[in-house]
Amino acid sequence: MKVTTDEQAFGALKKLALEANLDLTGAKVRRSSSRFCLGVEHGDYNGTELFGVGTDRFIWMAYKPNGTNTMRLYSGNFPDDGVVKFELGNVPAPRSAEIADTWARFAYGVDYVLRREGLPLTKGMDAVLIGNIPGGGMSRSASLTLNLILSVLDVNGLAAPDMMEVVDLAQKVENDYIGSPCGKLDQIMIAFSKAGMGTHYKPADRSIDYVPLGAGAKDFRIMVMDTGTVRPGLEKSTYKVRRAECEELVQKAKQAGFEITCLADIRDDALFEKIKAYFVKDVPHLVARMDYIYHAQKRFYEMMDAWKAGDIETVGRIFRQDGIGLRDDYVISGPELETMCDIVRTVPGVLGERMLGGGDKGAAGALVLADSAEAAKQAVDIAYPRSRPAFADKYAVHTCKVVDGIKLFENVL
Ligand code: GLA
Repeated sequence: MKVTTDEQAFGALKKLALEANLDLTGAKVRRSSSRFCLGVEHGDYNGTELFGVGTDRFIWMAYKPNGTNTMRLYSGNFPDDGVVKFELGNVPAPRSAEIADTWARFAYGVDYVLRREGLPLTKGMDAVLIGNIPGGGMSRSASLTLNLILSVLDVNGLAAPDMMEVVDLAQKVENDYIGSPCGKLDQIMIAFSKAGMGTHYKPADRSIDYVPLGAGAKDFRIMVMDTGTVRPGLEKSTYKVRRAECEELVQKAKQAGFEITCLADIRDDALFEKIKAYFVKDVPHLVARMDYIYHAQKRFYEMMDAWKAGDIETVGRIFRQDGIGLRDDYVISGPELETMCDIVRTVPGVLGERMLGGGDKGAAGALVLADSAEAAKQAVDIAYPRSRPAFADKYAVHTCKVVDGIKLFENVL
């Protein structure tokens, strides 16, 4: 079942309700977006500020209280899993092997974490879901988790904690129940996103600012190039190794007397050069990780100024530089992701391109002048299947709009 618009999604949800034999007449529909990070990629667990937008690939979930203490959920993306049914408070233990490959683990995890955090659920719901977010790079799991949390809180009449607490809860579901070592970037960029705006997060005071793109900016598109590869969970990816490496360097630097608590604390050239000189012989790979974060953080502020000034060319140039740092210093990209980048980089009007999100596999992204979007897509359609025939019928190019992260529809079913 392929859906693009809200109307198509509502139609699909009605069909799914019939298929699952669930009565969802009059149900609410919550739509949660995907996200596109403009910086600092891999900065969230290193303490940097973050900037990104919500993008129009979504999960739609129709939900309604069912008057029992049982959850009944059916996903149009995983029909073979059937209707997932469980009693609230009675879910498999965190990280259980038997649920490691099921989408239902997110629903179990939401029940588990909310109960543990003093928000026990007692009222069950029926729900059907459909989504069009590609896996790997656009935060499908964060979108699903946020959607589930907000919906079960609503059904249970629990006062919704403020959105930053919802973000924390969603991260806990992934960290503690699923076992994914993700940071908070995905959840923040989806939970707070507003149509037409960039979302700026400052970890120092956990604040959110909305930053419109400056007047006079050239019309541009956000392109997501799904390589068709499947990325395993972050816990099974290079991601986990990179997180550990960054923590290791911070530990070593502290022991050597440098006063830092995370890599983002390294903000001036003198300190950067000192730490580099101290460690480059023994642990050059850790210094390379620091090198990426240091320079990406510097570029971040330049990128923010360019965004505010409507200078989308500079935003694109920085996006490209970040991509080269992620490829060569952070070493978190993957061969298919780089094929996509190499292809679109040859197209005039493509302002910048790089891998997205967790890394290794999944999707790459590009900032493209509107007039060049078609040419960029054509370049991918010609070159990608030639270079990566194994993914010739699996890859996809998405041209995205900037949208609200969370939206509730009533009276549509
Ligand atoms: C994944 C994680 C995020 C973030 C990004 C990289 O999407 O879930 O927390 O670390 O990778 O920026």
